[in-house]
Amino acid sequence: MTPYQPTPDDHFTFGLWTVGNPGRDPFGHETRPPIDPVDAVVRLAELGAYGVNLHDDDLVPFGSRATERDRIVERFRAALADTGMHVPMATTNLFSQPVFKEGAFTANDAQVRRFAVQKTMRAIDLGAELGATVYVMWGGREGVEADAAKDVGAALDRYAEAVNLCCAHIRDRGYDLVVALEPKPNEPRGDILLPTVGHALAFIDELEWPEMVGLNPEFAHETMSGLSFHHAVAQTLWHGKLFHIDLNGQRIGKYDQDFRFGSEGIRDAFHLVRLLEDAGWTGMRHFDAHPYRTEDHDGVWEFARGCMRTYLILKEKAQRFHCDPEIAEALAAAKVAGLREPTSPGGLGTASLDALRTADIDPSPLATQGYGHERLDQLVTELLLGVR
Ligand code: GCO
Ligand code: MN
Ligand code: MN
Repeated sequence: MTPYQPTPDDHFTFGLWTVGNPGRDPFGHETRPPIDPVDAVVRLAELGAYGVNLHDDDLVPFGSRATERDRIVERFRAALADTGMHVPMATTNLFSQPVFKEGAFTANDAQVRRFAVQKTMRAIDLGAELGATVYVMWGGREGVEADAAKDVGAALDRYAEAVNLCCAHIRDRGYDLVVALEPKPNEPRGDILLPTVGHALAFIDELEWPEMVGLNPEFAHETMSGLSFHHAVAQTLWHGKLFHIDLNGQRIGKYDQDFRFGSEGIRDAFHLVRLLEDAGWTGMRHFDAHPYRTEDHDGVWEFARGCMRTYLILKEKAQRFHCDPEIAEALAAAKVAGLREPTSPGGLGTASLDALRTADIDPSPLATQGYGHERLDQLVTELLLGVR
């Protein structure tokens, strides 16, 4: 088999809105015609993907009648059945329609909020019908430009209420679905609520059914805040809250780029892949990225192939990282394994506290020891550059 050839076992998924992105940006019109969701399913299946994810409106245009909806869903389900593709995640578009210009779950107008929750309940029904087990909530319009216009505390009350209502709907219907919140700092709003992984993790603790809610961290979003994505994912895993992940490429300090996975931030991408693979994470490797605006449809499939191929190359690099003897030596010099040893082996009792209080620890040799990070990091660079 050709090396780095994806198969469904790799669990790669794409949003219909990603390969289907028509190249519109704030300054320019579409540069590509839309792609029929059925064609996206067929092409992605040929490329070795596991499935596709969707917003309600990606499949069923906003405002469709019930009979039209059922016809569209039936045709789409037939394509899934023919290709063996899955829909592991579904989500709601709560950002495109003008009704959501002031917010959706956190709009100041209660009728807008009710409409947003109702739209989400219907999108949850659609997701469940297509077999999704994760429901992503990205609050793109939950934010503000004019700070005087938003009571942030009240907005968080309403946000929590809306998530609780959606969880109640899932429970009421008996669906096998968990909710994954997706943090983002800005774009399209000046400031968005739940801007980072840390904010969102803390928010989950205030919910009615915290066990039903986790995160969908995105590479671009944490990077936009200048934060390390793989640290964010590591902490999300540590809390048992990695329910989904959005992979793409992004440079710090730029607009929301959504580039092909690995095209920017390759070191962070490497450490991320190493983290996910070492953790044995069984979830989807979902690409929430857009082909460049310069591309025609051939470029779109090159983009999709590139996302998956880069992941597989980095996965192989992660395996090499673990069997390279010089890297092993450098890891030992950096005392990486030493961090797994408890600081107080006896625990938190009085005897252990006393042992710690009275221990004879000379800081001088500790202060002068070197950790060999220069060598270790250069070895990682050389691994990534393909010379080892
Ligand atoms: C963005 C977001 C979206 C969400 C999607 C799923 O920056 O536009 O990442 O792509 O992930 O709406 O809810
Ligand atoms: Mn994004
Ligand atoms: Mn996303």
